[in-house]
Amino acid sequence: MEKREVKLDKFQEEAIELAEKGYSVIVSAPTGAGKTLIAENIIRKCIHLHQKVIYTAPIKALSNQKFRDFSKTWPKTTGILTGDVSINPGAPLLIMTTEIFRNSILVDPTNLEECRWVIFDEIHYLDDIERGTVWEESIILLPKHIRMLALSATIPNIDEFVNWLKKIHPFPVKTVVEKKRPVPLHFFFQCNNEIFSSFKKLEESHYLRKRAKQKTFKEGLHFFKANKLSTLINYLKGKGALPCIYFAFSRRRCEDLASEVYSYDFLTKEEKKKIESIFLDLVEKFNISSDRSLTYLFPLIKKGIAYHHAGLLPTLKEIIERLFTTGLIKFIFTTETFALGINMPAKTVVFDNLIKFYGRYTRYLKTRDFYQMAGRAGRRGIDKEGYVFTRINPHQIDLTSLREIIYGRYEPIVSQLRSCYATILNLFLLMKEKLLSIYPLSFHFYQSQELEKKEAQNLLKRKLQLLKEVGYIIGNTLSWKGELASKVYSFELQIGELFESGFLESLDEKTLFMVISSLVYEPRKGERKPKLNKRVKRLKRELNLFIKEIHSQERRYRIYPLSKKFYFHLSEVSLAWYEGTDFYKLTRFSQVDEGELVRYFRMSIQVLREILSSKAIDASFKSKIKNCIRKVNRDVVDAEKQLRQEI
Ligand SMILES: Nc1ncnc2c1ncn2[C@@H]1O[C@H](COP(=O)(O)OP(=O)(O)OP(=O)(O)O)[C@@H](O)[C@H]1O
Ligand SMILES: [Mg+2]
Repeated sequence: MEKREVKLDKFQEEAIELAEKGYSVIVSAPTGAGKTLIAENIIRKCIHLHQKVIYTAPIKALSNQKFRDFSKTWPKTTGILTGDVSINPGAPLLIMTTEIFRNSILVDPTNLEECRWVIFDEIHYLDDIERGTVWEESIILLPKHIRMLALSATIPNIDEFVNWLKKIHPFPVKTVVEKKRPVPLHFFFQCNNEIFSSFKKLEESHYLRKRAKQKTFKEGLHFFKANKLSTLINYLKGKGALPCIYFAFSRRRCEDLASEVYSYDFLTKEEKKKIESIFLDLVEKFNISSDRSLTYLFPLIKKGIAYHHAGLLPTLKEIIERLFTTGLIKFIFTTETFALGINMPAKTVVFDNLIKFYGRYTRYLKTRDFYQMAGRAGRRGIDKEGYVFTRINPHQIDLTSLREIIYGRYEPIVSQLRSCYATILNLFLLMKEKLLSIYPLSFHFYQSQELEKKEAQNLLKRKLQLLKEVGYIIGNTLSWKGELASKVYSFELQIGELFESGFLESLDEKTLFMVISSLVYEPRKGERKPKLNKRVKRLKRELNLFIKEIHSQERRYRIYPLSKKFYFHLSEVSLAWYEGTDFYKLTRFSQVDEGELVRYFRMSIQVLREILSSKAIDASFKSKIKNCIRKVNRDVVDAEKQLRQEI
């Protein structure tokens, strides 16, 4: 966080003024423009007036980072509440994931009585297929006394969004739009192993046009030279364009690229000494010296090279981020998580290619996503401009598509409203059948055509009907299994049914952990099926019967996507972890990366905690769950311990 006084930009001034005048404020500004500063200003005022303020971030890692940042400025008054950690939850400034915020509105709005402001960072997440509904629900259900500051990357339909908001939000709303980025971007391209210093020059080269004339793929192969990494690196070095963030879209690719540049050395003798000592100190402090990845990473880091992706241990990612802020990492190969919200700019950004896997399909990068990443180039106060290099493979992209990504319109945000069973159950408790009248308040309703509106309304009705027919709602209230399901977001019916049949409570502690970990686990595309022993096979058969029944109900009510199945890839590792095996030995049992393993174990703990919070379960089951959590929430899996260590 900046200690020195900065002169506010106009859009910052404007937003702060509007907030002071009593408006709720929506800010749309490019990556790295300085949106945080507006949030900090509101936080400062709230703390001064002894009012509570909530800051929500879209991902846990970002919440953690904001917690660390804000704790430095407001050490006594900052708290955090995510599914993984709870530190100082009564603090006046509370950081949350948006999910936890939405849940707390639903479950116990009295908790929010003293809260005057909520800040939604990265609110364009409303457009996220899987999680966007959480932002929309939070806005629709926001208690009437809470004002909001919403911060967003550039979105073209901000007016549409705000016009909707004005209809349902009790405070007057104003928009602040900043189009300019503080440090302008300069685009370069590598194609046919040459570097082009503008789009126009690439266009004039005709390389991307010639492709069209190639009749066959083979002919094309003879025609084009492949891009060499060394050509690019030499160019960047010659231009003084380091440090550089290199975005690649798979973990393996990040690691492979890093080892490919191993023959380069970007550091002086002195810098080497410095980075080595910082690195070793952090490794010791965080107690991860037995991590396998260090063997690969350490030699790279001594040369100013690193990689960073979700497969790494969270602590190791944190260490790499810290090293990066020292300026001693000159080349970092990373997936796009590095582009979100964290303030880690570089002089240059490189795109490995422009094709990305979007959950269900592979497509060209969206313009919004391209700029989220490209916007990391150019450090305020240091660089006159930021360099953005795109590596072009003429077999993969043509000129028109390329122009579309870089110079096309940003994609508008589109509602992804799709309330889950837990939301519906909680709403039912609050307002009974009237919950159906919530839908017309949504952005979805505002944005959609008549037919889509009708479909969405009917889907909500059918979900409610299913919950009644299967016994989650009885008369005017929730049954026991309904109460339990209302706590366990995303896994409502699976947990509900396992509970009602007595199956869940009959499990011993370690099998319970295994069952929950198979509930949260999502296999990667093309991942091999695991070999299961007899016991697990039997368990699998039993659980599949439950799933089959759930799916047949859902099909009857035409509710898609169907509730998630159980996958048993983690069965052996979760048992071993439960029994106390050292984390670094675990990876032997599993094809799953270390970082993923930690993530799934943490998710399992979160589900166990949600079950624990239900009134439906009795004392003996409660103590079973508590024991189970105690056994598995240890060492690198314990997120809270890690966060406390870091501050
Ligand atoms: N008025 C200012 N003058 C100089 N530097 C500033 C100013 N405002 C913000 N900054 C600096 O700009 C950098 C980026 O700010 P910030 O992280 O708030 O960007 P952002 O708009 O939230 O971007 P993102 O979309 O990545 O979340 C920070 O280093 C911050 O200190
Ligand atoms: Mg930000």
